[in-house]
Amino acid sequence: MVLAVPDEPARGRKPVLRDELAAVVVKQQDPPERLRIICYTKWAMSLVNKRIVVGLGGGIAAFKTVELARILMQRGAEVRVAMTESAQHFIGPTTFSALTGHPTAIDLWDKSYAGEMHIDLAQWADAIVVAPATADLLARAVAGMANDVLLATLLCANSPVLFAPAMHERMWLAPSTQRNLQRLLADGANIEGPVRGLLANGQEGMGRMQEPALIADAVEELFAETRSLSGKTILVSAGPTIEDIDPVRFISNRSSGRMGYAIAQRACRRGARVILVSGPVSISPPGGVEAVQVRSAVQMHQAVKSRAGEVDAIVMTAAVADYRPVAQASDKIKKQTGGMTIELERNPDILAELGKTRVGTTPILVGFAMETRDVVSHAEAKLKSKRVDLIVANEASVAFGGDHTQATLVSHEGNQPLAPMSKRELAERILDWVYSRIK
Ligand code: C5P
Repeated sequence: MVLAVPDEPARGRKPVLRDELAAVVVKQQDPPERLRIICYTKWAMSLVNKRIVVGLGGGIAAFKTVELARILMQRGAEVRVAMTESAQHFIGPTTFSALTGHPTAIDLWDKSYAGEMHIDLAQWADAIVVAPATADLLARAVAGMANDVLLATLLCANSPVLFAPAMHERMWLAPSTQRNLQRLLADGANIEGPVRGLLANGQEGMGRMQEPALIADAVEELFAETRSLSGKTILVSAGPTIEDIDPVRFISNRSSGRMGYAIAQRACRRGARVILVSGPVSISPPGGVEAVQVRSAVQMHQAVKSRAGEVDAIVMTAAVADYRPVAQASDKIKKQTGGMTIELERNPDILAELGKTRVGTTPILVGFAMETRDVVSHAEAKLKSKRVDLIVANEASVAFGGDHTQATLVSHEGNQPLAPMSKRELAERILDWVYSRIK
């Protein structure tokens, strides 16, 4: 028996809601012990009746946009495509015309078109997604240029716009690109990705276009107003803290910051004002958040405490060091004969203090419990001792470093074990929980 996953919902089958587990049992010839099980969670026709313009800039990632258009259509959307001239060096318009059943818009001056193509496209669209969005395309969009059909469409858009940037790391990190990004965000655009990974030249780096399915998720979110956190302020702590011993040595932990950064990014996407208080990590803060960089637990304590009065929810994902050296040597400690003892003292427990001092139920307090054993029972104990609303319990071996994790949501209403999922998806679950409690 195979718990199989068709690529798309079979015709006539009632679509299931997103995140509801759907699986079809298909009999195979194989003996039962050889059967594989695949679970499928996204069969949602979540974009039914939505009209999406997919725009392409000229980047190597353009080939992946075929898959993006296909996924959007599978989720129920009607898709029309507009391409810049340079995009056509990477992929042909015929591919998209055949796929979508509509002519691909490539020429603002197309004589066979009776109306004004860019105005008609913009009016038709419920959302516009530009993938890949190159550095040049972002710059032109910021400047409000309209020198091709895609840019002209963007300029007269009155529906949400999502850019999925893709470029070489150096282009992505260029101050001008980063400035343009901030301007686009300020103008109300949405940005999805890029991510770190293999780039066109075979080098590893930041700038790879987000995967098509995740871009499609981001398109769905443009319509997901019901879970909006707009008007709310959320403080997220992330990463490790560093407790200095001397100018070159310190005590820290392996927290990557990914979980907290995912929550900050998703909260920002849902319209919240986000304050991200982060210990030292190697990833960049998501665009649009107010990033506060700290080093030690004492600094994090100060940064969180001084802002706690202005926020609706605090999500403490930071792996705050419980202890710090009593003394920090101003010069490098020299080795001596025999052993050495470093005396440590307790750091403030930021979350417990917030739980103790808050009046009423604001801010909502969410903590994380990372354990190597008895994960859930420790989380239940922390829920009570720290007087918080939710503890996200996960095991150190699965939670540290990577992009996936498995967690249980432990609250006063009971425990909710979750399936293994990406940190981004877990971030959504946590924010759904916060959304359901927030006043
Ligand atoms: O007690 P433990 O460190 O396991 O608790 C984890 C939770 O408490 C996390 O949410 C973490 O951010 C928070 N914490 C804190 N201050 C500390 C230690 C942990 O806020 N000193």
